Amino acid sequence: MSITTHKPVIGVIMGSNRTARIGGAVANWALDALQRDDYTLRLIVLAELALPFLDEPDILAHGHYQNASTQRFATLIAGCDGFVLVFPQYNWGYPAVLKNALDTVYAEWADKPVGTIIYGNHDIQADIAIRLVLAGLNMRQLATNVGLRLRPTTTAATVAQDFRPFYPLVEAMGTELALRLTHA
Ligand SMILES: Cc1cc2nc3c(=O)[nH]c(=O)nc-3n(C[C@H](O)[C@H](O)[C@H](O)COP(=O)(O)O)c2cc1C
Repeated sequence: MSITTHKPVIGVIMGSNRTARIGGAVANWALDALQRDDYTLRLIVLAELALPFLDEPDILAHGHYQNASTQRFATLIAGCDGFVLVFPQYNWGYPAVLKNALDTVYAEWADKPVGTIIYGNHDIQADIAIRLVLAGLNMRQLATNVGLRLRPTTTAATVAQDFRPFYPLVEAMGTELALRLTHA
C-alpha cells in the first residue's frame, strides 16, 4: 500500500486588472523568490479570471453559491492551502478587483495563511486596509509581509533589478508559509 501525501498549494493572486499593469512582472518576480519544494505555487491572475462584480443572491458566508463563476472560483480557492496576495496600492487601499475576489467566496479563505506583497509609488498604507479585510475573512496573516516602493523609472523590465534588495524578504515569506502549513 502506498501512502500519498498532499503537497500544499499556494495561490499567488495577482490583484491588478489594469491592461497596462506592472503587476504581472511583480508577480513573476515574487513567484521566483517564493519557489520551494514544500509547496506548489499556483498563479491566479484576476484580470484573466474576469470575475463578475459580485451578484450572488445569498450572503456569501452561507455558502450557497449559485452563479457558475462563483462556484468555479470557490473550487479554485478551496484547492489552495495558503495565499500570497500581490497587488498595487490604489488611493491608500487595495484594488477593487481584489476586494471583489475576496468578497466572492467566504469559507474557502478561512484559517489559511496569507502574506501580502504590496507595491506603490509612495509609503504603503494599503497594508492597514488589507489587514482588516483578511482578519474579517478569518485568514491567518503572516508576520512576513512585503511593501515595495516603485522608482519613477521602474518598468516591467526593471522590476527584478529594482526590487532585488527585497528578494530575501520574499524568500523569508516562503519560509514562514512552509512553517505555517506544517504547524497549522
Ligand atoms: C487609481 C490609482 C491610485 C493610486 N494610488 C496610489 C496610492 O495611493 N499610493 C501609491 O503609492 N501609489 C498609488 N498609485 C500608483 C500605483 O501603485 C502604481 O501605478 C502601480 O504601478 C499600479 O500597479 P499596476 O500597474 O500593476 O496596476 C495609484 C495608481 C492608480 C492607478
